[in-house]
Amino acid sequence: MGKIKKIGVLTSGGDSPGMNAAIRAVTRTALYEGLEVMGIRQGYSGMINSDFFPMYASSVSDIIQKGGTILKTARCEEFRTPEGRQKAYDNLRQAQIDGVVVIGGDGSFTGARLFNEEHEIPIVGIPGTIDNDIFGTDYTIGYDTALNTVVEAVDKIRDTASAHNRMFFVEVMGAEAGFIALFSGIATGAEAIIIPELKGEERDIKKMIQAGNVRKKSSNLIIVAEGDKGGGAFTIAEQVKADFPEFDIRVSILGHLQRGGSPSAIDRVNASRLGHAAVEALLDGQQSVMVGLSNGEIVLISFRKAVKLHKDVNHSLVELARILSV
Ligand code: F6P
Repeated sequence: MGKIKKIGVLTSGGDSPGMNAAIRAVTRTALYEGLEVMGIRQGYSGMINSDFFPMYASSVSDIIQKGGTILKTARCEEFRTPEGRQKAYDNLRQAQIDGVVVIGGDGSFTGARLFNEEHEIPIVGIPGTIDNDIFGTDYTIGYDTALNTVVEAVDKIRDTASAHNRMFFVEVMGAEAGFIALFSGIATGAEAIIIPELKGEERDIKKMIQAGNVRKKSSNLIIVAEGDKGGGAFTIAEQVKADFPEFDIRVSILGHLQRGGSPSAIDRVNASRLGHAAVEALLDGQQSVMVGLSNGEIVLISFRKAVKLHKDVNHSLVELARILSV
């Protein structure tokens, strides 16, 4: 494979705050290194439909502070098929794009991995999802902003819970993982946190309430991860109401407000670092790898590991939340 001269950059899967900062870093690092840059619109669909456009330093001006993604994003069914990936490859070749940076989550990296098994144009990934659920990196772009958004919302709900002596169940995003729930629960002093990673006794909400701190308090906040197997905040709240009719219960589903907004300083800085590292990795001849952050340092991890291995929450934090909620 010859030296890379022109790269493409795309965002794929759910948007997350900080993706624009990563696009900016990829574009400007590539230009600094003497490469040409093409924006690819709408995720992998843009590869399949040749939706490419040239990017310059000015194309990424005034975006570092903006949520969403200027490249648009999508979850592309056609890219799951070999025929779709072949079309994408043909279009990249035609446009003389010889390296691609994909900013997205595990679904996006699964596609990228398959593409790199079939075709020689290298892809390097940057983890971008509010869920923080990708193995091999301590951090994914957008997680910090989403967490701060949740904390701000839950603090407000706490005022009402307290004023009315109510019990609130607040459901937060996170896909199959409990990172947002666990960290926001600790940050807001939640009385209980229900996440998919809890096993056996640990996840028995009735016991949690009977045994614990919840009953002693006039108001309670319980954070529920959307991916929890208990059926979601409404179902859990109904069960609790049946067992403990004395509680005045309300449910709040925070939903997509967690995905938007101006990225935090942490997300901007980390996205800038990861964007720079992704271009350097392509120039170093890497392919089928994701750049990540581990203990504050840039690391490379294969797509194979990133999508196959499970990232667990730190269970000592579950215990910490329990101890601190007395
Ligand atoms: O992966 C990000 C995420 O926001 C998850 O937390 C959530 O489960 C999912 O995307 C929602 O996806 P959509 O926007 O397609 O409904």
